[in-house]
Amino acid sequence: MTNKQSVKLPDGSSTPSLFQTIQLIANPINFFDACAHRYGDIFTARVLGINSPPVVFLGNPEAVKAVFTASPGQFELGKVTHVFKPLTGEKSLMMLDGNRHQRQRKLLMPPFHGERMQVYGELISEITEQVIAQLPRNSSFSMREWMCEITLQVILRVVFGIEPGARYQQLKTLIAEMLEAITNPLYSTLFFFPPLQKDLGAGSPWGHFLQRQKQIDELIYAEIADRRRQDYSSRTDILSLLMSAQDEDGQPMTDGELRDQLITLLLLGHETTASSLAWAFYWIYSSTGVASKLQAELHTLGKKPHSEAIAQLPYLNAVCQETLRVYPIALISQPRVVKQPLEIKSYNFEPGTILVPCIYIAHHRRETFPNPRQFQPERFLERKYSPYEYFPFGGGSRACIGGAFSLFEMKLVLGTVISRLQLSLAEQPQVQPVRRGITIVPSGGVQMTVQH
Ligand code: HEM
Repeated sequence: MTNKQSVKLPDGSSTPSLFQTIQLIANPINFFDACAHRYGDIFTARVLGINSPPVVFLGNPEAVKAVFTASPGQFELGKVTHVFKPLTGEKSLMMLDGNRHQRQRKLLMPPFHGERMQVYGELISEITEQVIAQLPRNSSFSMREWMCEITLQVILRVVFGIEPGARYQQLKTLIAEMLEAITNPLYSTLFFFPPLQKDLGAGSPWGHFLQRQKQIDELIYAEIADRRRQDYSSRTDILSLLMSAQDEDGQPMTDGELRDQLITLLLLGHETTASSLAWAFYWIYSSTGVASKLQAELHTLGKKPHSEAIAQLPYLNAVCQETLRVYPIALISQPRVVKQPLEIKSYNFEPGTILVPCIYIAHHRRETFPNPRQFQPERFLERKYSPYEYFPFGGGSRACIGGAFSLFEMKLVLGTVISRLQLSLAEQPQVQPVRRGITIVPSGGVQMTVQH
């Protein structure tokens, strides 16, 4: 039996839970800074609305390690991520727990890793070249929007394997619209309040969502059907690889599973990378000497460098790592609900407790990263950080499956743009981290100009 002392939760605010929830939604960075300042790198908050259960945020490396190295059966994601089920479908990797989650992960991981990824390098550089040729030359532009154009094309061609054409254009437009809509606060409210999810025709918000989703599904299923009719055994796109993959029992993925995973990859894999790139451009062009140092490093590779050579550049790597440290696009890992009692750093967490490894707090611990608010890529050249001190892609059995791919894509896009164009930041209000859906993006999208 556990005594009262051992089930004591880490300290935290006694402010009413609705108020804490509003503070977190309105300005998550301020919320985390204030809590970490008062309570340290492990604290309890109540941020899931009225009568919120306790949610324990962990930025302490020892505590994060305990969560990431626990067996997959120790936690479930439970209802916390289920709000997105109408969007992703119930077979999505994000919605699954236990063995079903492990099975889908094993099928999904290989295409995103190792040599497989190198195959996509040339395509990423080619798409980047085509998109930047269209950048306005006489006016400023939002870097985030142009980066979204690149990353959406990359996802459609690399993940879906769809060549530009009618279906490609339709999907591209529908997905961009869907992502724009679901990050709109009014629209996104629908996901949190199932009673509002009523199909009252295309004029009603939920009806509109369902109609758009149906159009996207039809295009995805048409692509899967076309692919099934072809010989896709030698194709290298991720959809074809997933269609060829089999689990331990020799079972391939069903069309429904393929659809749910593709939508998940689209939703998680496109704007995340684009916003990280926008932050990278902001830091590179607002910090003295960084752009010229990168240009000099890229210059050493000659005129037509191989993507693998770009990906290996140490300073470029450090710039990307530091970008993902200062304002990680996802401030938190997915919340884990404790299934069996668990002891972490003398706290005993009972089943039902929600534990959240907090990326932002870990990345801003002064003990690990002195002067945490300053952009200092050199720290990644001078020191190696453990996966519990620095984890922009989360960790453990639920770590981001696209992390290595994203980093590779960021390096190729930055390498291509910086070696082709002379850029500068345009006049704009101070760039601040702001919430967009579940991500943290630069306010104003980072306005830039191309110099002639
Ligand atoms: C800079 C870009 C990205 C960042 C910062 C990012 C970050 C994250 C984080 C923090 C998690 C939660 C991990 C955890 O709970 O411990 C996650 C999960 C996930 N990410 Fe990413 N991500 C990025 C790009 C991508 C890309 C490109 C893809 C795929 C194309 C992707 C697919 C996923 C999936 C499927 C999951 C859920 C994994 C699971 O539940 O098993 N992400 N990502």
